[in-house]
Amino acid sequence: MENRSAAAAALAFLAVAALCCAPGAAELARLQHPPKHDGSLSLLVVGDWGRKGTHNQSRVAEQMGRIGDKLDIDFVISTGDNFYKNGLKSVHDQAFEESFTDIYTAQSLRKPWYLVLGNHDYRGNALAQLSPVLRKIDDRFICMRSFIVNTEIVDFFFVDTTPFQLNYWTDPGKDHYDWRGVAPRGKYIANLLKDLDEAMKKSTARWKIVVGHHTMRSVSEHGDTKELLKLLLPVLKENSIDFYINGHDHCLEHISSRDSPLQYFTSGGGSKAWRGVFQPNKDKLRFFYDGQGFMSLQLNQDSAQFIFYDVSGNILYRWSSGKTGHPRSSTYLDEE
Ligand SMILES: *[C@@H]1O[C@H](CO)[C@@H](O)[C@H](O)[C@H]1NC(C)=O
Repeated sequence: MENRSAAAAALAFLAVAALCCAPGAAELARLQHPPKHDGSLSLLVVGDWGRKGTHNQSRVAEQMGRIGDKLDIDFVISTGDNFYKNGLKSVHDQAFEESFTDIYTAQSLRKPWYLVLGNHDYRGNALAQLSPVLRKIDDRFICMRSFIVNTEIVDFFFVDTTPFQLNYWTDPGKDHYDWRGVAPRGKYIANLLKDLDEAMKKSTARWKIVVGHHTMRSVSEHGDTKELLKLLLPVLKENSIDFYINGHDHCLEHISSRDSPLQYFTSGGGSKAWRGVFQPNKDKLRFFYDGQGFMSLQLNQDSAQFIFYDVSGNILYRWSSGKTGHPRSSTYLDEE
């Protein structure tokens, strides 16, 4: 197990190294992560966590370790806001170990972590957090702006959502955002949407999942992110994306789109929570928990099962979706 995960991380590292050095490569970085021998895949999703163990981060981490072991997870996804309050200062920032390495210590979590950046990560040295040098300290940490993880049955499209939100550019207040390698916004977003659309059109995986930091639909503090609804959502609908998974709001949510099969899942309960905010949403709210916790996802050719857990590892909510028939003409069976 230990060897396999180290090997996977090493392969991922090489793939990234090859891509970042290819001149003019416009395609999104693509990593391969094979499923289990029976073709299934299981993983955990956590977001909004890096607080040096405080605000119940350590308790959530402990339960992730326990559930991760039970489900024999293949990897972990982080929906961003990996380090509070202002990302990492440099690749030598102690926060990397204090909030990540020293917290997620369970054997079952010694698997690759695929991470996106959140808005708080952009408030520090974003390039440090993206640097492969961090893998010399902890080889699990695979953080890029936008990239694809191909697992045969699922294509995961990780999307850098922070640059979408206009007021970070126009009205940053006293926060500073590290836009190196991103500005100007319009060009960055146009290129990203084009690359995503092309990659999604080429995907032949049974399931297609998009992961970002910001909410599309949310009933909590931040609510919907209107730039994502306007710019990213049409690309997701056009390409029959099954699920959009995000953090940003510090809670757990499941919302169903009313005009497409798309399902929205928020897993942003990695540490500080209990905001006490509820604002209604136009889509169909199925589940909302304002406290700490995390999510598991188990997939095979025919079904996808989502489970939300609280800070003590209790199951709060379970939902599954099935696909029958030929992958190209699948029908959705809502099993709730
Ligand atoms: C941590 O979790 C416990 C159990 O749910 C809760 O009572 C406590 O308020 C939480 N602490 C914080 C800081 O959220």
